[in-house]
Amino acid sequence: MEFLKNGKLAPQNFSGQKVSMTKGAVHFKSVFMNNDNLQKLRGIYQNEALDITSETSEPFVLFNKWFNEALASECLEPNAFVLSTIKNNRPRSRVVLLKGVENGDFIFYTNYDSDKGHEIDNTSFVSMNFWWAPLARQVRIEGKIKKVAESVSDDYFKKRPRGSQLGAIASPQSKIVKDRKELEEIFEKVSKKFEHEENIPRPKNWGGFAITPDYMEFWQGRANRLHDRVAFIQVNGEWKTNRLAP
Ligand SMILES: Cc1cc2nc3c(=O)[nH]c(=O)nc-3n(C[C@H](O)[C@H](O)[C@H](O)COP(=O)(O)O)c2cc1C
Repeated sequence: MEFLKNGKLAPQNFSGQKVSMTKGAVHFKSVFMNNDNLQKLRGIYQNEALDITSETSEPFVLFNKWFNEALASECLEPNAFVLSTIKNNRPRSRVVLLKGVENGDFIFYTNYDSDKGHEIDNTSFVSMNFWWAPLARQVRIEGKIKKVAESVSDDYFKKRPRGSQLGAIASPQSKIVKDRKELEEIFEKVSKKFEHEENIPRPKNWGGFAITPDYMEFWQGRANRLHDRVAFIQVNGEWKTNRLAP
């Protein structure tokens, strides 16, 4: 991203932006970044059909298949997803990283005292959204969220690089800090505190959340905007499947 001397965003040229893919292709015409041209931005999707077959009739099997294909594609951070929560009836979103899929739950890690942490405490339901651009695929997931067992968070915290462990302790996530210097000073202080400790203990306000989905929707970009959408809804412990109009 380029900025002009006056601090404004330079016109973005999407010319030649091409993503090579294992399946299909997305091409963008050359445009400049203004509303008129944004409206002209059109990806052309040429992908295989999403049909519900025995291979894909279970949402976790399909998620696993798509996730592996995202890993094999040129997706940057395929485990990144948008997590949406609610605060006073207003939705709020941010990106986090999927760190596990276990017993039908999706797991990510964060600071329990962050904004999202408090919003989760208050509502217990969240939505997740994965967008794998090179494959023209979106997965929307909704469900109930709870903290993982402390032992699960401990195990994952131990596996993190030392710098990330120190950062988790140092960062008062979502709180206002005066400037970058203040943040770096806290980090220095924390680093000093643990400089002779081989194992850094997990701070109690940092750990995992597990999302148990009751809705999973798979979206495959197709030609002429006739995209495939297949939704799995849990009813009385069983997954029911519906095809939705794009
Ligand atoms: C690619 C990417 C991955 C991220 N992964 C995480 C993560 O796994 N956990 C986390 O707490 N924040 C993660 N963040 C930062 C969050 O987007 C967000 O800024 C932070 O969690 C504070 O959100 P909140 O104030 O709504 O709680 C990530 C950001 C990006 C762009």
